[in-house]
Amino acid sequence: MTAQAPNYGAFDRVDWPVRTPRLTLRPATAADAETAWAWRSLPEVTHWLTAAWSHDEFVRRWAEPDRLAVTLLVEHEGRGVGDLMIRVTDAWAQAEVADAAHGTQAELGWSLLPVVQGRGFATEAVAAAIELCVGPLGIRRIEANCFAANEPSWRLMERLGMRREGHYVAESLHRSGQWLDGLSYALLASEWRGVPPRADRSE
Ligand SMILES: CC(C)(COP(=O)(O)OP(=O)(O)OC[C@H]1O[C@@H](n2cnc3c(N)ncnc32)[C@H](O)[C@@H]1OP(=O)(O)O)[C@@H](O)C(=O)NCCC(=O)NCCS
Repeated sequence: MTAQAPNYGAFDRVDWPVRTPRLTLRPATAADAETAWAWRSLPEVTHWLTAAWSHDEFVRRWAEPDRLAVTLLVEHEGRGVGDLMIRVTDAWAQAEVADAAHGTQAELGWSLLPVVQGRGFATEAVAAAIELCVGPLGIRRIEANCFAANEPSWRLMERLGMRREGHYVAESLHRSGQWLDGLSYALLASEWRGVPPRADRSE
């Protein structure tokens, strides 16, 4: 996940905490750095992330205001289990209509403690993030990107009904030294129907 820009005060427009059936979402604080280090220190989590920082570098970067402005902590039964990024941006627009494109787009990102993976927590948390985007944040287009080889991430996006819009060949250099394919996904607010029922269950 990259945190590149202020969030236009997006988190100030939400009534926190946000609760889902199993999770609580709230804006991250500097004091959450050690909690997040529990998963952000693990190679299986950092493998696909932008950086695998040392502990001290991670703690310093986690607390940067621009980063906290886009980061949510995900808690389960009072324990931090993951983090989400919601970065509100401007859609590209021609100059005459740029004001109308201000703050209309959001980029999402995620990481989850491995011991709680495989239970649908990421699906539940990202669905809540999308609800925030289409609700109080007033976002019209939601985007996310991943390496094509990061199957859990693109499966998550497809579970949520996001559309694969781009496949970029040998686009990004992984720290392994390999040039890897990338994928981009998106969802328009008008397309959001909530989390579809699981195909393996009669819900
Ligand atoms: C991406 C990531 C969050 C996905 O985690 P995940 O555990 O696969 O996702 P969920 O928590 O939504 O769980 C979904 C899995 O649990 C299963 N599941 C069980 N109960 C479920 C429920 N109630 N609802 C949905 N899925 C459920 C699903 O079938 C799915 O398994 P499958 O992919 O084998 O079909 C995780 O792999 C991760 O943190 N990766 C490292 C960080 C990273 O890559 N970040 C993104 C960089 S672009």
